[in-house]
Amino acid sequence: MRGPLRGFWAACGYLRVRVGGERVAVRAGILGTGAYVPEQVLTNFDLERRMNTSDEWIRTRTGIRERRIAREDQAASDLAFPAAEEALRVARIAAADLDGILVATTTPDHVFPSTAALLQRRLGAWNAWAFDMSAACSGFIYGLAVAASFVESGRARYVLVVGAEVLSRITDWEDRTTAVLFGDGAGAAVVGPVAEGGFLSFVLGADGGGADLLVLPAGGSRLPASHRTVEERQHFLKMNGREVFKFAVRIMAEASEEALRRAGLTKDDLDLLVPHQANLRIIDAAQERFQLSPEKVVVNLDRYGNMSAASTPVALHEAYRAGRLSPGNVVLLVAFGGGLTWAATVLLWSVPSPLRTGEFEAALARGKTEP
Ligand code: COA
Repeated sequence: MRGPLRGFWAACGYLRVRVGGERVAVRAGILGTGAYVPEQVLTNFDLERRMNTSDEWIRTRTGIRERRIAREDQAASDLAFPAAEEALRVARIAAADLDGILVATTTPDHVFPSTAALLQRRLGAWNAWAFDMSAACSGFIYGLAVAASFVESGRARYVLVVGAEVLSRITDWEDRTTAVLFGDGAGAAVVGPVAEGGFLSFVLGADGGGADLLVLPAGGSRLPASHRTVEERQHFLKMNGREVFKFAVRIMAEASEEALRRAGLTKDDLDLLVPHQANLRIIDAAQERFQLSPEKVVVNLDRYGNMSAASTPVALHEAYRAGRLSPGNVVLLVAFGGGLTWAATVLLWSVPSPLRTGEFEAALARGKTEP
């Protein structure tokens, strides 16, 4: 940890906070991460054969080259499960020790029961409460904020947060303006008390005034499934891309700056920016604004497209696994999405680099290096 930050921590006296006179809580942080993406790759060239688009258009307008598509028999909980298992393994936490499971998703297995409850059963996490969160692409960071609040208030010790999406099921493969953008995947993090590091700030926001800009019209109580909704393709997501783009560029900068301000830090303190992976031009705008060198910005949308709530946790896990994160590093996660919603958090990283612990080499030896 850097000198000034050490001072900052000391000033905060962050280690032990008395809550409600009953329980003692500690600062929450990330104890381990995991990710899973389906094996099937759908490239821009594959899309060229299916619709009136081109690899060149998709690459230059979005930065995306390919995305993963879930098998027909895979639902959100099937992608969430391996990601969750890996996060628990990295955190060295048993499923039975989890107090809560929170799944952020716009593509749950069912409207109910929650995907979190299905994941609880699969993991055997019998001591955990479980519920889903609907905050679109901001869902994972919303989930981290909820989990951190549980841990820091003493109401939970370990909470598993998962972002899992099978967006290919709500993608209109006849609409080239949206079909080229999305992919399937899942990322997870175990949130728990940390002796050093942890979450320094959260910024969560919403603007329901923009609710119509990104919407899955049918399948809820407003427009239940009917022959008509199917014929009218109302079960596929609709987006006003241009308006969402403008909103995204603005809100990424504002939410990031506010999260840094609340953490008592500036852009110069940043070691790694993990932005939502919707469009490379949106990420480039943030990178430019913060004058960050490319190695300080995580980009994986070229390989996965936009995986909504799964984008930030998969990007975070990949950065961890590649050895781009060491304890004490200042990390900024930021996302925006349907709702409209946005979320950002600044944290001090607290998981030892896998390059140091040899876990990465062990994973390589096991042949388990994907994603
Ligand atoms: N292939 C080829 N041409 C395409 C195309 C595709 N897949 N999709 C759209 N086009 C065409 C349009 O029809 C339009 O043609 P026209 O000028 O003849 O009408 C042209 O390309 C430009 O379309 P436009 O919508 O202005 O493109 P854009 O530069 O705004 O890029 C997005 C479109 C969707 C990539 C961009 O707006 C975006 O990324 N928005 C944010 C989306 C987002 O972040 N969503 C997730 C939120 S979590």
